[in-house]
Amino acid sequence: MPDVKVEKIRDDPELYIIRVDDDRIRYFEATWSIPEGITYNAYLMKLDGATVLFDLSKREYTDLFMEALGKLVDPKEITHVVIHHTEPDHTGALPAFLEANGYKAKLIGTSFAKRFLEGFYGEKVVENFHTIKDGEEMSIGGKTFRFITVPWLHWPDTMITYVVEEGLIFSCDAGGGYGIPERIDDSDEEVVQRYLPHVTKYIVTIIGHYHKYIVQNIKKLRNLGIIDDARMILPGHGLIWRKNPARIFEHYEAVGAGKATKGKVLVLYDSMYGFVERRMEIVLDELRKNGLNPVVYRFTDKEAPAVSDILGEVPDSEAIIIGASTFEADIHPRIRYTLFELLDKANYEKPVLIVGAYGWGGVAGRKIETLIARSKFDHVDTVEGRGMLRKEDEERLREAVRKLISWIS
Ligand code: FEO
Repeated sequence: MPDVKVEKIRDDPELYIIRVDDDRIRYFEATWSIPEGITYNAYLMKLDGATVLFDLSKREYTDLFMEALGKLVDPKEITHVVIHHTEPDHTGALPAFLEANGYKAKLIGTSFAKRFLEGFYGEKVVENFHTIKDGEEMSIGGKTFRFITVPWLHWPDTMITYVVEEGLIFSCDAGGGYGIPERIDDSDEEVVQRYLPHVTKYIVTIIGHYHKYIVQNIKKLRNLGIIDDARMILPGHGLIWRKNPARIFEHYEAVGAGKATKGKVLVLYDSMYGFVERRMEIVLDELRKNGLNPVVYRFTDKEAPAVSDILGEVPDSEAIIIGASTFEADIHPRIRYTLFELLDKANYEKPVLIVGAYGWGGVAGRKIETLIARSKFDHVDTVEGRGMLRKEDEERLREAVRKLISWIS
């Protein structure tokens, strides 16, 4: 059963996190493999004459969430619920909460949020709903709450809350990541270092389809001055950022822009009977000889890595090498699916080398070239061969790798 962490984050005003650590989940959104788990963070702020709940939790953990909330406050005393984003990992517990609250709390969110909540949970939950306008300020319990829309981080409904006097940004999905960090905040650098790759994977799989909006929305927040002024960033997943609040949005910007790590090359291939693999051994040898650092994922008859992990490697790679068998006059199905997701969610301006092997006719290489041509990736070369690796194939492969390297250096 998931653990629930309830911790006081600060005094005056009193602020708490209620963090459900979901270690049972295997596939986020029934798609993305996350053995690292995920947390659902809600926050409670006690003010003069008002008690505000920021987001909730997933429906299957409603009892855990309500029990934890009940230790901090009688749900009937909660006067406002801020709905930053309606995806049910943050709102699934809302109907049960409103029952316990007697439908007294005012819900605050965007017009999209109101529409989506009504769709998910029925008309009754939005009877007391205040629809915000972008940049609107409300005085609640003596504090100024500014609501700023950040559409497509992760849905069109999404907004953040900036509590002006306190410099607090409640950011929901934006600033979040997969994983169940050992701490609630960024105070331990080792915890942060272990967590950041999960953040990258989260960004690509969850927001990658909309990744131009990452850069756009963070620029919007920067221009408003609130990232520089923030004393704490409190996301809906993962770590709270208070030692270095700006760091998480800098990481988001780097991932959104595809900022590369020097020398990192993502190598991805299938090999049914070793014909592609022999070719990739040459590719890897040539990369390493030239001082590059290949990160390898392969589909064989003994292993099948998670596509979500592969996607998480794309943003900071300098280049990508794809090896594919021709399979039933098409790209091998594992690579076909991986490419489908990669081109949709991790579509960056990076050079790509294609390597292939076939039995009686090479089709995969040409089909991958066509897909690449419709994306932001740059096609460098394709080296495809029939069956076993021959001496001339090896020369051709080494040449193609050197061409790729010259592209990035
Ligand atoms: Fe964490 Fe898009 O929900």
